[in-house]
Amino acid sequence: MLSLTNPALLKSGSYIDGNWHQDNQHLGVRNPVNGELVHTIANANAQNVVTAVEAAKKAQKAWQQMPAANRAQLMRKWYDLMMQNQHDLGIILTAEQGKPLAEAKGEIAYGAAFIDWFSEEAKRVYGDTIPAPAGDKRIVVIKQPVGVVAAITPWNFPNAMIARKAAAALAAGCTFVVRPATQTPLSALAMAELAEQAGIPKGVFNVVVGDNARAMGQVLTTHPDIAKFTFTGSTAVGKSLISQCASTVKKVSMELGGNAPFIVFDDADIDAAVQGAIASKYRNAGQTCVCTNRIFVHSKIAEQFSEKFIAAVNQLTVGDGMQEGVQIGPMISKQAVDDVDTLVQQSIAEGAHLALGGERHPYGERYYKPTIMTQVSNQMAIACNEIFGPVTPIITFDDEQQVIAMANDTEYGLAAYFYSRDIGRIWRVAEALEYGMVGINEGIISNAAAPFGGVKQSGNGREGSMYGLDDYLEIKYLCMGGIDR
Ligand code: SIN
Repeated sequence: MLSLTNPALLKSGSYIDGNWHQDNQHLGVRNPVNGELVHTIANANAQNVVTAVEAAKKAQKAWQQMPAANRAQLMRKWYDLMMQNQHDLGIILTAEQGKPLAEAKGEIAYGAAFIDWFSEEAKRVYGDTIPAPAGDKRIVVIKQPVGVVAAITPWNFPNAMIARKAAAALAAGCTFVVRPATQTPLSALAMAELAEQAGIPKGVFNVVVGDNARAMGQVLTTHPDIAKFTFTGSTAVGKSLISQCASTVKKVSMELGGNAPFIVFDDADIDAAVQGAIASKYRNAGQTCVCTNRIFVHSKIAEQFSEKFIAAVNQLTVGDGMQEGVQIGPMISKQAVDDVDTLVQQSIAEGAHLALGGERHPYGERYYKPTIMTQVSNQMAIACNEIFGPVTPIITFDDEQQVIAMANDTEYGLAAYFYSRDIGRIWRVAEALEYGMVGINEGIISNAAAPFGGVKQSGNGREGSMYGLDDYLEIKYLCMGGIDR
């Protein structure tokens, strides 16, 4: 049993239309550290998703018509409650997901920041007037909420990926139904408890938890009352969800996989680059879409950078995220560990050199040692696939054009990073990288004020920032005639 200051945050089933569905508890949520049972929840099914969509549809009109300032106040209260409960929410998150508690509490603040940010933006859904081509006409553009929004969110950020989508949706005047990942329902339910305490009206924010991803996803991508569908997860799953959404022509936004290059030029501050690479790569045990996937180092400084990087990674503390000082927790499943190990062994067979780690960690079956491979080529499987684990391949390069070509040689286009102190190069490289987000002398780029999203097969749409509302709004053009009569 989790030791929480506010035990009301630990819920046992879906939150639909302001009611808790806590009967038939038979889905166990397990701690990835050791597989121990954290809590048992009621396993919702596709029919429960339909009920949630109907509730969201029923609540839509009143929520949309509520003055934006009032919606903003409710959201602000929700934000306050999340921050007041940050420690408990962090404990719940670490227990079901595994990331170190300090990182989990950081995620709560990160998620809550979207609610705060969009509570302000709710008041700034401005329209436009456009000079008309004829004197007796006026052209006015207004923005209106798209309607009911459905979301499927991943296990790697059980709080923030819901907050980032729901905050924009609610601010725009949309109602919301989310199916969180099977592995991490408790953080989502705790958010619903706080939304209820904040006074968000019933039916506006619904969370449906269950393990039948396919059947539940089918409803969320095909129900005619859902106007918009948003997903964070792998590119492969995203593609099939997009095609399901086609049947009812839903608006979609997708935050999909990545293969982030991290380029260290020979004029870089090497110590800063080492710190940036560690922050970007080993956050959440390497399980984020924006984690560095390939480090490119200029051959002149490759030895110096690699030595320092290997020494720093070797210092990272692996263990149970609930313990003080642990920096790398478990991976989400044994399968995830096996997948990472397969990539590592394959790259060794292909000629890469194992500089650190390269095997399962004795702490438990869901642990993998922080690993570094050198003498990697951009064609090896480890450089072409999203690793999603604590493994870094290092590739050397000799000139700017060559490294830009290698960095862009992927179907992904989410995040990229580079370190340089040459202002001309900074502009050239930033403009040439085919990515939605570029960290320049910076390894951590995510925040509520910035537009998060990718190009190419990393998805479409932007989350966070002033652009984040657009995906939840329709533009309506009003043509007013007869003005001079
Ligand atoms: C993700 O991995 O999908 C999100 C990472 C972030 O928000 O920084």
